[in-house]
Amino acid sequence: MKNIDFAGRVALVTGGGSGIGRATALGFAECGARVAILDHDAIMAEEAAQLIVDGGGEALVLKTDVSDEASVANAIATVVEKYGRLDAAHNNAGISPDTGSTVDCTRELWDRIFAVNTTGVWLCMKHEIQAMLNSGGGAIVNTGSVSSLRAAPYISAYVASKHALVGLTKVTALEHAEQGIRVNLVCPGVVRTPMLEKKADEGFFSIDEYVQGSVPMKRAGASNEIASAVVWACSEQASYLTGAILSVDGGMVIA
Ligand SMILES: NC(=O)c1ccc[n+]([C@@H]2O[C@H](COP(=O)([O-])OP(=O)(O)OC[C@H]3O[C@@H](n4cnc5c(N)ncnc54)[C@H](O)[C@@H]3O)[C@@H](O)[C@H]2O)c1
Repeated sequence: MKNIDFAGRVALVTGGGSGIGRATALGFAECGARVAILDHDAIMAEEAAQLIVDGGGEALVLKTDVSDEASVANAIATVVEKYGRLDAAHNNAGISPDTGSTVDCTRELWDRIFAVNTTGVWLCMKHEIQAMLNSGGGAIVNTGSVSSLRAAPYISAYVASKHALVGLTKVTALEHAEQGIRVNLVCPGVVRTPMLEKKADEGFFSIDEYVQGSVPMKRAGASNEIASAVVWACSEQASYLTGAILSVDGGMVIA
């Protein structure tokens, strides 16, 4: 990512304390951006920020719940207050708790999954776009999933919440195309992160068996393989990319 230049720019990453978000936060920093890490787990976010500082970068931790509009508004206002602008945002925080089948899923779990995965992305864009317009434009990447594009049994709330991001990303891209704001969706496949490893540890599935059966490249992705697509999509090198649904999944969705 060294050939991408974010010097003088400001990026924010939600869910930047762990997994894919942490890798993106480090990626933006490596390219010279000052990075705000918005996460409801402040300890993980501080850890990620320390890695950035250790690498000679600048990071700001903001304990944020993306499903809470006041929390999101306050975090984005703080970024602008501290750094004076917002150029790039990766709306990545997401959850995938076990729900069981469509019939068994509780209303409480359904609402929580949508509140974080879908409403959270909308709330972040709502406040980021205003900040970006004040900075002369910007780029947003939302984190979808292979589950934005196809079904899998027993995760209907997750699949529906991630499918919704396809429409939300496209509409937002259309609404702001003339204003210098690009909006894209990156859809990871199977990526070794704490989220995935926790599910495997709980006995839902074996990552290796799952990968062999469903990923044409026959391996799981690493967080930095998703992060490099996100950082690129937010950079000037992707200046004509908007409304795109970009699968980064070792070929999973085409199989
Ligand atoms: N790991 C995979 O295989 C995979 C595949 C497809 C899509 N994704 C998506 O990638 C994104 C990141 O997942 P990951 O695997 O890195 O998971 P992760 O659990 O390692 O990281 C998620 C981060 O989001 C934060 N978070 C959760 N709820 C939040 C909230 N309400 N407000 C603020 N922060 C919150 C967590 O504290 C954590 O730091 C998610 O949207 C997930 O759905 C992951």
